[in-house]
Amino acid sequence: MSKLWGGRFTKQTDQLVEEYTASITFDKELAEEDIQGSLAHVTMLGKCGILSLDDVEKIKDGLHSVQGMIRRGELEYAISDEDIHMNIEKTLIDLIGPVGGKLHTGRSRNDQVATDMHLYLRKRVVEFVGLLTKLQDALLEQAKKNLDTIIPGYTHLQRAQPILFAHHMMAYVSMFGRDIERLQDSYKRINVLPLGAGALAGTTFPIDRHYVAQQLGFDRVYENSLDAVSDRDFILEFLSNASFIMMHLSRFCEEMVLWSSTEFAFIELDDAFCTGSSIMPQKKNPDVAELVRGKTGRVYGNLFGLMTVLKALPLAYNKDMQEDKEGMFDTVRTLQGALQLFATMVSTMKVNTERMRQAVNQDFSNATDIADYLVNKGLPFRQAHEVIGKIVLYCIQNKKYLLDLSMDEFSKFSSLFDDKIYKILQPEHVVNARNVYGGTASNQVSDAIARAEEVLNESNEWVTTYLEKSK
Ligand code: ARG
Repeated sequence: MSKLWGGRFTKQTDQLVEEYTASITFDKELAEEDIQGSLAHVTMLGKCGILSLDDVEKIKDGLHSVQGMIRRGELEYAISDEDIHMNIEKTLIDLIGPVGGKLHTGRSRNDQVATDMHLYLRKRVVEFVGLLTKLQDALLEQAKKNLDTIIPGYTHLQRAQPILFAHHMMAYVSMFGRDIERLQDSYKRINVLPLGAGALAGTTFPIDRHYVAQQLGFDRVYENSLDAVSDRDFILEFLSNASFIMMHLSRFCEEMVLWSSTEFAFIELDDAFCTGSSIMPQKKNPDVAELVRGKTGRVYGNLFGLMTVLKALPLAYNKDMQEDKEGMFDTVRTLQGALQLFATMVSTMKVNTERMRQAVNQDFSNATDIADYLVNKGLPFRQAHEVIGKIVLYCIQNKKYLLDLSMDEFSKFSSLFDDKIYKILQPEHVVNARNVYGGTASNQVSDAIARAEEVLNESNEWVTTYLEKSK
């Protein structure tokens, strides 16, 4: 059989044009969704009396046979049939004869492809929330194991104030928590049905769009047929959410790379997550962390790529829009890989508490606390800051840390010091003094862990409910 749209043509399509314009090599990924959409569409055509119930049964049986062929890997996709929609329709007609040609009644590939993409992405979004909760779980485990591990906290990558390692892990739990919220929020804009928009204007057949929506588990139908076939916002929103997640992972990667260097030696990544060098036998490289950091670039690229494709596109379908798919599939694969690896990389990461302790003992990250001490004694903060600045300078010049100073040395800088200062300067004291909601004091971090575990349970319940809804 010639092309499904061959009627008005007098010449064959140029071979190169056929290859250039076909999308079957990548949109075959939408096969299951395409069948799912077609089954709902044809059922509706029967219910509305547009097709006879007999024809509907034949078409549904045929679609199930095509589905079986796809699942068994028996369907041979043809470039000449351009895309997944026409490959499936052509196979259906080959299997059940001309009645198969009735499936496309009241439908266009424009609303069909949009429907497939909505069905595809809503499943992925739920799966990604699931993967994020697994990562949060791994972070929470590390936090619980390290509730009394103190590390230097940095600003400008310079030692700032000591914090609990658990507090650092919990910062990432919060970041991935926002990513989860963003994905959950996007679901309501993905879960909208375009089908019934036809090519752009609707259809002359008395279809029932809400019935199709109900069968497919969509909460709403697109309000405007032109918008329904033109909209790719939901894909952009996903690509943007994916970019946020990769950016968060990439910041963590950077810290892992730094922390696993000999200079820091704060953590050791599991051998299974590192690779060696072909020339330097001593090397253990944090390749996974580096590559996730690197792949963040392509995920951003996919977002900007589609933004650029859509910029200045006139409404309704333009062939340019076929470019929405490869970047999306690539982002899905990249993100799946990154999140799956990350959860295990975090849970198998060894924390070198000794080394962290050593680092904390050899810095001035307790300086703020003596300033606060003088403030509590009545000195204005600016003056206290100045006094401590001078003490730190004195220490640097004399190769000492604050805890090495004698009472006499302290007294030279201010008469307000007494020997309580030695307690105040201890890292545990410094950490636990930040006893404010969201702060690094250990009771605050324990409370934060408990709250995060509750939210995590809710997220997991959401995943279970929505996996069912978006089947
Ligand atoms: N393969 C096309 C795509 O992915 C399907 C829609 C084609 N519609 C059309 N009017 N040519 O965008």
